[in-house]
Amino acid sequence: MVRAMLIARTLIQLREACARLRQDAGALAFVPTMGALHQGHRALVRAGVASGAATVASIFVNPLQFGPNEDLSRYPRDEAGDLAALEAEGCTLVWLPDVATMYPPDEATTIVVGGPAERWEGDARPGHFRGVATVCAKLFGQVRPDRAYFGEKDWQQLQVVRRMVADLLLPLEIVGIETVREADGLAMSSRNRFLSPAERTLAPSLYAALTRAAGRIAAGAPTPAVLSEAADALTGAGFDVNYLALVDGPSLAPLDRATPQSRLLTAARLGSVRLLDNVPVG
Ligand code: PAF
Repeated sequence: MVRAMLIARTLIQLREACARLRQDAGALAFVPTMGALHQGHRALVRAGVASGAATVASIFVNPLQFGPNEDLSRYPRDEAGDLAALEAEGCTLVWLPDVATMYPPDEATTIVVGGPAERWEGDARPGHFRGVATVCAKLFGQVRPDRAYFGEKDWQQLQVVRRMVADLLLPLEIVGIETVREADGLAMSSRNRFLSPAERTLAPSLYAALTRAAGRIAAGAPTPAVLSEAADALTGAGFDVNYLALVDGPSLAPLDRATPQSRLLTAARLGSVRLLDNVPVG
């Protein structure tokens, strides 16, 4: 029997539905999102469903992770489209909290993250990971999942959430899922829709530059030279490169040579859109 996807808009509805699903399915998988869902999100939901758990997705555009000059007001919203996509992937329950539920006026606690949250996006977007960690901790407390799924595309976010879950002894497993790409290599992102046609044509060169540089570093070419040549080539092509670095995967500490866990990490702006990407090296 195909059951209709459940929707919870209040904490009471969420708790009732989660309790019922836990009883029926045994385990809960959770996919936190900010909506504007693409194939990357759908892959996370598919992984949850494939695990045999009842899969819960949340849609909440989290104001705490946006800086004052960032794009909170223009963040794409498409509730009807998102619900259809989640239902098509076999999602069991969707949690749609409002801002007052997530951030009641009398609350006094946020989560300060160090370690993997320092540097890179942490420098570029002060307060961003405090917002991500705080909302994830709240969502984990509300849904109480056995596992939560995050895309590797936001590599640093995945490591920050893993670190928080380990440090706070939260009773769930964090599962990373490989980046889903367009046919031309561009990593899927809700913000790609803001690329102009000319920027969209140029955007896949970021992944091409990353894979080329990763191959050269893995083959033994000197890391600083490879990184500066790749950054110069991207700048010459029209990208404003924020950072391009070889890092230790879990800690995000910079490296000068490849290790079994190293990643090449980049953020580069094309027009008004900041593109993030990363690939394994070694
Ligand atoms: O990756 C995202 O969409 C968000 O940062 C997350 C994890 C849903 C927290 O708001």
